[in-house]
Amino acid sequence: MTTPSPRTSQPVRTAIFPVAGLGTRFLPATKATPKELLPVLDRPLLQFAIDEARAAGIERMVFVSHPSKSAIERYVHADEDLSRKLREKGKHSIADRLEDAAIDPEAEEAHFVMQPEPLGLGHAVLCAVDHVLPGPVAVILPDDLIMGGPGCLSEMIDAYAGAGAGHMVATMEVARDEVSAYGVLDPVGETGGRLLHASGMVEKPDADKAPSLQAVVGRYVLDGSIFDDLRNQTPGLGGEIQLTDAIAKGVARVGLCGFRFSGQRFDCGSKAGMLRATLAYAGSREEFHPVLQDHSALAMAAE
Ligand code: UTP
Repeated sequence: MTTPSPRTSQPVRTAIFPVAGLGTRFLPATKATPKELLPVLDRPLLQFAIDEARAAGIERMVFVSHPSKSAIERYVHADEDLSRKLREKGKHSIADRLEDAAIDPEAEEAHFVMQPEPLGLGHAVLCAVDHVLPGPVAVILPDDLIMGGPGCLSEMIDAYAGAGAGHMVATMEVARDEVSAYGVLDPVGETGGRLLHASGMVEKPDADKAPSLQAVVGRYVLDGSIFDDLRNQTPGLGGEIQLTDAIAKGVARVGLCGFRFSGQRFDCGSKAGMLRATLAYAGSREEFHPVLQDHSALAMAAE
């Protein structure tokens, strides 16, 4: 492996949100409602992701969607008619919440681009290429919900300039029998800190072939050269253009490190993960505590 050249610390101004997937694990719910708009109580997954990008100072959000998922575009933009109707009925606090959630065109930009076929996460990211601002880009997968702590993307961007690697991925340790569900880092030595430098990354390895237990979850800060690597990327696992493969290709040139984030991650692409996220979010809101107490009393009575 050649030593990567030192990175210039250009700011991270763009976040890409790949939202074009089929969401098959949530059918039939996702037949008419995009997975990314499924709510954790009253807040769609996508809203958590948008707020995380905002907190990280992102200027431009690029949503890579599918023509059958037009509800996402409707959700992201302000609905002045609905706001007006709510205010006419005196429902000002609901109107305020609605307006706070939507994109404010004076403060931030939202671009939509279509991925006609779900050809993989790497392909979805490449679809955004004509809409990104110069410099490194962030990628946020809305179905990986990270709660608590400062936002995961804020933490990553704060660490990025000093990390000495052009590609940074959020990482967490998982059990050996779970590694085959993730991209997995091949770390270079072990550090006790937040950063974990790596010589490569493998998509969904068999448990006995995994280079480590450091799984990559859905937050990335990627050197702008990722687009060149994606353009030249041949289909990998499952016949899809894998983002993992293109990241691995750039390691010798730009470097790669994992970032151990401080929040708790929920895999909301799975039903169990969605349920866990819902319970955790309810636990963070006092108005739902009586319901959770009833539920745990019922569960204890049933034991
Ligand atoms: P997943 O692989 O978890 O989502 O992609 P999926 O394929 O929609 O879900 P299942 O497995 O069928 O239930 C993670 C994220 O990447 C997006 C998805 O929309 C999701 O936000 N994605 C995935 C794309 O935008 N395009 C793709 O080709 C694949």
